[in-house]
Amino acid sequence: MWSSSVKTGAGISIAGITAKELAKDFGTPAFFVDQADFYARANEWNAALNDSFGDNAGTVYYAAKAFICTEIARWIKDIGIGIDVCTGGELMVALAGGIDPAKIELHGNNKSVAEIEKAVASGVGIIVLDSLYEIERVAAAAAKANKVQRVLLRLTPGIEAHTHASIATAHEDVKFGFSIASGSAWDAITAVRTHASLELRGFHAHIGSQIFGYESFELSAERLIGLLAKYRDEFKSELPELDLGGGYGIAYLPGDVAVVPADAMKALSAAVHSNCQTHGLKVPTISIEPGRAIVGPTMFTLYEVGTVKDVTLENGTHRRYVSVDGGMSDNLRPSLYGAVYTTVLANRTSSAHNVSSRLVGKHCETGDIVIREIDLPDDIVPGDLLAVPATGAYGRSMASNYNHVPRPPVVAVKDGKARVIVRRETEDDLRMLDI
Ligand code: LLP
Repeated sequence: MWSSSVKTGAGISIAGITAKELAKDFGTPAFFVDQADFYARANEWNAALNDSFGDNAGTVYYAAKAFICTEIARWIKDIGIGIDVCTGGELMVALAGGIDPAKIELHGNNKSVAEIEKAVASGVGIIVLDSLYEIERVAAAAAKANKVQRVLLRLTPGIEAHTHASIATAHEDVKFGFSIASGSAWDAITAVRTHASLELRGFHAHIGSQIFGYESFELSAERLIGLLAKYRDEFKSELPELDLGGGYGIAYLPGDVAVVPADAMKALSAAVHSNCQTHGLKVPTISIEPGRAIVGPTMFTLYEVGTVKDVTLENGTHRRYVSVDGGMSDNLRPSLYGAVYTTVLANRTSSAHNVSSRLVGKHCETGDIVIREIDLPDDIVPGDLLAVPATGAYGRSMASNYNHVPRPPVVAVKDGKARVIVRRETEDDLRMLDI
């Protein structure tokens, strides 16, 4: 839930800096990212993939959509893993951060021709194809650039992953990829093979996000390998790569148990090896795309309390509303997915008894809830600081300017030093596009 250098207790500190100092120096709301923890998690996934797959280990592609900025792209380059981008914007940041284009993989179910041409021209290692139209567009862009582009086909293996409906991606009724069951995956294979400007390397599947347990990942591998075998039977050659996507679950609440990279990779490796053996196939190189599991727990959001209000409910009980200076503009996940978080008093300790509370933001909307039900000390007052852990993934990256609220900064903390890596928006920024 918390990154490794966060200490809770007499207030919060991260890498030796107290929340009070951070709030004084950088203001609130703000995201704080634990740089050493980010490196450790990325390295742990990379080591787990390499330990479990050995010579067949492909690439860990960090899923940029979870959170990206130029400095994070530099960290990815420094760590030496790859990156999965799904728009021209994400591609631009990855390149600005100096990531080797060969380690960039381009996703997206509706890439524009301009995005495709930019990706081909930049020399991205892999483009993941998502529709028949796109096969033609990428083939044309590669031919125009006089290149042979390496591609994977995104497949839907027909799996109901156990997660929120908006973030499950591998059942049949989705916009992503080609269905194996319906035969459209086979049509896509046939279409790719007609183009000399495309080199089909293998298949990709991403089953969804915030997934626990390995069964869905294993089933996805089984179905993709089944298709590799069919391909070998038909064309007498074997495709060399599979990318099994991201989606590994993290802890948001005390007591949640996060997926352990080494365990997940061992389970996946066992499934890949046994299915390849069944079909008499060489083991392909296996890549993965964790986003949340790398950046999620590395960050927390620091808010300042602005008001505290007790409301009498119809049944005569009370609910305390504690309002902070951010809300759904910096964390849309509770309103969008019913996502749950916890919070702790970050500037001091309290021995007051707990009161059932609701943590809300400053937006003009009842649904602007950060935490629906949380016990908070009775003596919380305006000016207190509250820290919400595990906001690194899909927090700042899905932030908006709703109600013309400037988006918070991201501050990197390491070895007792803190520095801004994404500055706070200003009111002038908010008017920048107005004519
Ligand atoms: N690969 C592909 C092709 C994806 O579509 C995604 C996430 C990932 C990798 C990374 O998944 P992760 O390891 O981060 O779970 N906004 C939602 C999550 C949407 C995920 C979209 N795709 C949320 O806040 O929960």
